[in-house]
Amino acid sequence: MSSLKSTPAWKALQSHAAALDGTHVRDLFAADGQRFDRFSLSHSFSRSDLLLDLSKNLLTDETRDLLLDLARQEDVEGRRAEMFAGEKINTSENRAVLHVALRNRSNLPMAVDGDDVMAGVNGVLAEMFSFAEGVRGGTLTGAAGKPFAAVVNIGIGGSDLGPRMVTEALRHLWKPGIEPRFVANVDGADITSALEGLDPATTLFIVSSKTFTTQETMANAGAAKAWIMAALGSDAVGGHFAAVSTNAMAAVEFGVRPDRVFHFWDWVGGRFSLWSAIGLSIAVACGRRAFTRLLAGAHEMDEHFRTSALAENLPVALALCGIWNTNFQGCQAHAILPYDHSLRFLPAYLQQLEMESNGKSVTRDGMVADWQTAPVLFGEPGTRGQHAFYQLLHQGTRRVSMDFIAAAISHYPPADQHDMLLSNFIAQGEALMTGRPDANVGAGAPHRAFTGGRPVTSILVRRFDPETLGMLLALYEHKVFVQGVIWRINSFDQWGVELGKEMAPEVLGDLQGGGADGQVYGHDSSTNGLIERCRKFRDEGR
Ligand code: F6P
Repeated sequence: MSSLKSTPAWKALQSHAAALDGTHVRDLFAADGQRFDRFSLSHSFSRSDLLLDLSKNLLTDETRDLLLDLARQEDVEGRRAEMFAGEKINTSENRAVLHVALRNRSNLPMAVDGDDVMAGVNGVLAEMFSFAEGVRGGTLTGAAGKPFAAVVNIGIGGSDLGPRMVTEALRHLWKPGIEPRFVANVDGADITSALEGLDPATTLFIVSSKTFTTQETMANAGAAKAWIMAALGSDAVGGHFAAVSTNAMAAVEFGVRPDRVFHFWDWVGGRFSLWSAIGLSIAVACGRRAFTRLLAGAHEMDEHFRTSALAENLPVALALCGIWNTNFQGCQAHAILPYDHSLRFLPAYLQQLEMESNGKSVTRDGMVADWQTAPVLFGEPGTRGQHAFYQLLHQGTRRVSMDFIAAAISHYPPADQHDMLLSNFIAQGEALMTGRPDANVGAGAPHRAFTGGRPVTSILVRRFDPETLGMLLALYEHKVFVQGVIWRINSFDQWGVELGKEMAPEVLGDLQGGGADGQVYGHDSSTNGLIERCRKFRDEGR
């Protein structure tokens, strides 16, 4: 297959980008009073509204048409149909990609290998809701008969980032008296601080791991088990642990009661798993109704994505704008800037979603991609980020595209602070787009000039209720899917995390064993040197 770069749609976009060189987006606004309306899309569902404003990116009607040509050329519609049909589009692992079934509130059949998965999906949902309501209502207790006051999710990657982010985003819906906590890092500091102040008799652990083999999760689960056993005895373990995994046998071997192991399936990728029983901590903290509303919002976006024409499709629009900025406007990084403290874990969540999915350089056909794929993602909530890295966004030499995200209505007082937050959300976008040319700052002050023309996308919602959050997350999931299709990569495997995982046990052996003389020989001199120095510092103590 020839390179993507030599295809007609790609070449047309390259020529178009060259022709646009020198055009400033503020001139496009000056020439077109309708630009906001013409480059915005919105979607409403129940009382949730989501507006996607792409107008501050350097896009014209021709850009949009050419990007849509590229999407058609790469058969986005055909690939979309394959995903929803449960085809094994994760080819390197021979798996279907059907997280959309987890929130298929229509209950219309969705099949993998010819079998409808909906009965299984609804069955596990019912089990997790019954468990969550039992914990919330105090009918499900710890070994000593006390109701749970804390639920600690132990997991990493997709088994942590999604539940952590959603639980925090929906903090206003937490049931008083049950505190959710999250542990991910193998660094003992994480579990130590997560357990601080907790009473073993009222603490429930949920071990969340698709594989139930992940080093960090197993180490933290082991530490939690030892903590429970030390306080309550070994018979108490079953009363204080639940597990979510595709590997039920390993969870039971660990000591989880079989009726507290919640199942999911190999067609749910880790970074797409918060909608499955991996979301159990969300259901415990926020309740069945909130979780169901979250699923409903995501399903609404799934249906919009599945059925809307490419030109009116929000995930497609967001994806194409990203392709334009990454591949034709030279953006190397992409900032996620939620003007919402409750969404402060969104950048980390999207880092995994986008970079683990599309941070790849080999195509589905095994070709080396000679075009850019996923940009580097980073972000912080506004306004905190403004006082940290916005300097570079405004005046740096690198081009960074940005998503500004905000809700018009906050769940938290004081109201005037929310207006301040919103004013920053809007003003920063305006400043990054318009800039302030040299001519307006006077001679001798070039450092006070702003070029503007920095690509800004704004996402504004009415408020972050569960449905809206579900819509937003599904919007990003499908954006990632569309970009992966266009970049010709498999967005659903993650072989890039394997090598480091494979090498860590050998280094661990060297750290803990090694030669009697303290010398380590098996690696390059830097690696040997670091291992030796760790051993030396540790042996010397203090
Ligand atoms: O980092 C690799 C990865 O496999 C992620 O894709 C996944 O979300 C994470 O590890 C955790 O895996 P598990 O749920 O199997 O513990």
